[in-house]
Amino acid sequence: MSKTKRTARKAPVRAAITGVFGYVPPDVLTNAELAQMVDTSDEWITERTGIKERHILKGRGLGTSHMGAEAVRGLLAKTGTAARDVELLICATTTPDFVFPSSANLVCDMCGIRSIGSFDVQAACSGFLYALTIASQFIETGKYKKIIVVGADKMSAIIDYTDRATCVLFGDAAGAVLVEPSRKFGIIDTLICSDGAGMPHLHQKAGGSRMPPTAETVAKRLHYVHQEGAAVYKFAVARMAEVATNLMKRNRLTSDKIDWLVPHQANLRIIEATAERMKLPASRVMITIHKYGNTTAATIPLCLWDYEDRLKAGDRLILAAFGGGFTWAGAYLTWAY
Ligand code: ACO
Repeated sequence: MSKTKRTARKAPVRAAITGVFGYVPPDVLTNAELAQMVDTSDEWITERTGIKERHILKGRGLGTSHMGAEAVRGLLAKTGTAARDVELLICATTTPDFVFPSSANLVCDMCGIRSIGSFDVQAACSGFLYALTIASQFIETGKYKKIIVVGADKMSAIIDYTDRATCVLFGDAAGAVLVEPSRKFGIIDTLICSDGAGMPHLHQKAGGSRMPPTAETVAKRLHYVHQEGAAVYKFAVARMAEVATNLMKRNRLTSDKIDWLVPHQANLRIIEATAERMKLPASRVMITIHKYGNTTAATIPLCLWDYEDRLKAGDRLILAAFGGGFTWAGAYLTWAY
């Protein structure tokens, strides 16, 4: 027998999500409450976005790392993982506690995870999928065997609650996943994309190196999310659908082969348009936007957390996101448990 025949080909090592945990702060902000703050209505918000309520992190001195740490602590306990065994932690966020150090550093400290590599990834609403893609590379090369990927955002810190066009959209939350090697399940393909020409349509004008904070930037309310909703909507619909259908083509997947679409939750209409392009029925699309709003980097892990009971080993998932930058990203994976 030839050598090649005797040696059974081993399946490649893939990065599998082996646990998920979410955290939403206890305070809820409903559409009715927003209608008391700005000129809007429950009807407008529900019809245009699908959002009914969102959670807001309250409490002096609590930032994104507080929510990230809550999610990571829950994840460690649930998966029976010791803090000392975690080898890398990546935090996707657009609302870090500080310009530096990174929120990833802070989350590690708060969770008793010591001396490992940890860093933030900034890709707005696509951040979690960017971070997951990075984690998958470290697993596939064999460099690490236990990585935590966090998506966390305190959007309420950069939202102008006098601007009805943005304040109804966002909420605060965190989600975390454990990523480990598997020869059976895991991430099969990823795509990360960006187009910096999208900046004028969605950005925060002041507070960075181009326009550092001054009394004037504060007075002019430039430290908040600036979004030209209709322009962003057009790109979001096109790119979310494009990244999801590209993954399907690249992996020869027809819609009947996909168990779940896990879309970034920015607007129910964008999610429905993406599912339609993929020819997926609504019953196979994860939706949490009605109760959490757009939690930026946290939406995808929160979806996985919410739907975890309905997932089973081997399920085929397409994850897709679009966000500021512009950035967009996707992942095709099989669920591990
Ligand atoms: N209540 C009532 N009326 C409102 C509200 C509100 N909360 N917000 C806007 N309006 C008004 C506008 O002033 C406008 O009135 P006008 O016609 O008199 O000028 C009208 O409603 C229509 O406004 P549009 O912005 O065109 O409304 P649209 O149907 O596009 O919905 C929305 C707005 C929900 C923001 C939508 O454009 C959207 O979802 N955009 C994409 C968001 C997204 O995907 N962002 C990327 C991720 S976020 C990130 O990366 C940080």
